[in-house]
Amino acid sequence: MIAANTNSIDCLIVPAIPPARVKKNASLSEPLKLGILASGSGSNFEVIAQAIQNQQLNAQVQVLIYNNPEAKAAARAEKYGIPSILLNHRDCKSREELDAKIVKNFQEHDVEWVIMAGWMRIVTQVLLDAFPDKVVNIHPSLLPSFPGIRSVEQALKAGVKITGCTVHIARLEVDSGPILMQAAVPLLPDDTAETLHARIQVQEHKIMVGAIALIADRPTDKNVP
Ligand code: GRF
Repeated sequence: MIAANTNSIDCLIVPAIPPARVKKNASLSEPLKLGILASGSGSNFEVIAQAIQNQQLNAQVQVLIYNNPEAKAAARAEKYGIPSILLNHRDCKSREELDAKIVKNFQEHDVEWVIMAGWMRIVTQVLLDAFPDKVVNIHPSLLPSFPGIRSVEQALKAGVKITGCTVHIARLEVDSGPILMQAAVPLLPDDTAETLHARIQVQEHKIMVGAIALIADRPTDKNVP
């Protein structure tokens, strides 16, 4: 179900089962050149790579940047033949210094859009100014509820009956900005943070691909898994 007008990036809301088609008769365009930021497992990064390989997304991943030497995302990049670069935040004196290095590497790889696919660093104006309105984030709650860290635990503690996930354009304030897609996930009586996060991640993988498909303007009935 899509609410409101599809010409705007800030008004699409999807339930747990997203629409089969988000745009009709859009013209084919050049593949989106993506730069991915990931800190951990990289499952959201992998669904993007997979969707590109399956021609569900009119995009290409130019490069993965990760900040944690242990990040499993790097092995996933290797599997897909995607170049990856480790930029350890511990080697930087400030958040701005890390973001400046990210910008430099993304520009060298001809990146147009930045996707924060589980990026556990607070971004600065340095990154946002280099890619205006083209930095995308995914967050495991129905924003604006439960921004910041431990949002799954926050939802459990608050006793909400429905939580979910959000893909949005990033602004300076943590986990804020125009919403591209959301999916709702009901809480179950015996949920722990782990079980709930696992169900949220299933939906994250759908809206991550769906939101990039919206940006990529790709006319296909496969653009949302
Ligand atoms: C996701 O839940 C995302 O919403 C949050 O970090 C997690 C990353 O998961 N920002 P993965 O590394 O993509 O598996």
